[in-house]
Amino acid sequence: MEVNSTEYWELRHARDDWPRWSSWAMEIAMKNIPTNARVMIVGCGQGMEAIKLLNHRPDIKSVYAFDIAKSAIRKAHKNCTQLTDIKDKDKLWLCVNDLFTLNTENYSRPFDYCISIQNLEHWKPETHIEALRRMLRPLKEGGKLFITGVGKSWDLDENNFGPLVCDGEEKQYSNDLHYNNWSEQELYDLLVRLDVECVTFYRKRGSDRVIAEATK
Ligand SMILES: C[S@@+](CC[C@H](N)C(=O)[O-])C[C@H]1O[C@@H](n2cnc3c(N)ncnc32)[C@H](O)[C@@H]1O
Repeated sequence: MEVNSTEYWELRHARDDWPRWSSWAMEIAMKNIPTNARVMIVGCGQGMEAIKLLNHRPDIKSVYAFDIAKSAIRKAHKNCTQLTDIKDKDKLWLCVNDLFTLNTENYSRPFDYCISIQNLEHWKPETHIEALRRMLRPLKEGGKLFITGVGKSWDLDENNFGPLVCDGEEKQYSNDLHYNNWSEQELYDLLVRLDVECVTFYRKRGSDRVIAEATK
């Protein structure tokens, strides 16, 4: 089984409960999203970003969150019981979808904001431009893409997720889990190739996350 394949994500989400609140990156995104926004969340995992957003920003019009793994979306639906207000649940669309085959031209109305947290490093570098293009395309002019990557000093050994049992065999994760770790400059160089208007980076002392917001 290839690390980062669809099968890999299916197994990981089926095996691990992953109730991450996507840490402080999500805190920044939630402050930046304009009022009454329509939001798209790419690689939403088990739904925690969407849930956090709807719980803290009741003005949000709708959230379209998708992930390639059925097992993730199944758990995301379960985790949604945290959304007690039924009206808020109605704002959330959780779907199984692959960013690379998703037909982003079909949306009747463009999104104001797109969130992609901890996805980019799991896609092969030669696909990054296409991935970013596909995340920018469904945004309206002036809409924003909020994107994170792991930084250069991120150490898998210190962030160990434990072995994965696959076909009866225990496989230890290795740094192969990420195709690349990012510097701000590298992410900037990719984003400007897509003609974005403006890129803002966010930093937290002691953290090596690379966090950018790009305006279409
Ligand atoms: C490291 S996880 C991050 C999950 C979540 N954003 C978070 O920060 O907790 C990467 C996620 O991307 C999903 N994913 C991988 N390739 C994808 C693709 N082509 N389209 C949509 N989702 C994908 C995986 O299933 C996984 O849930």
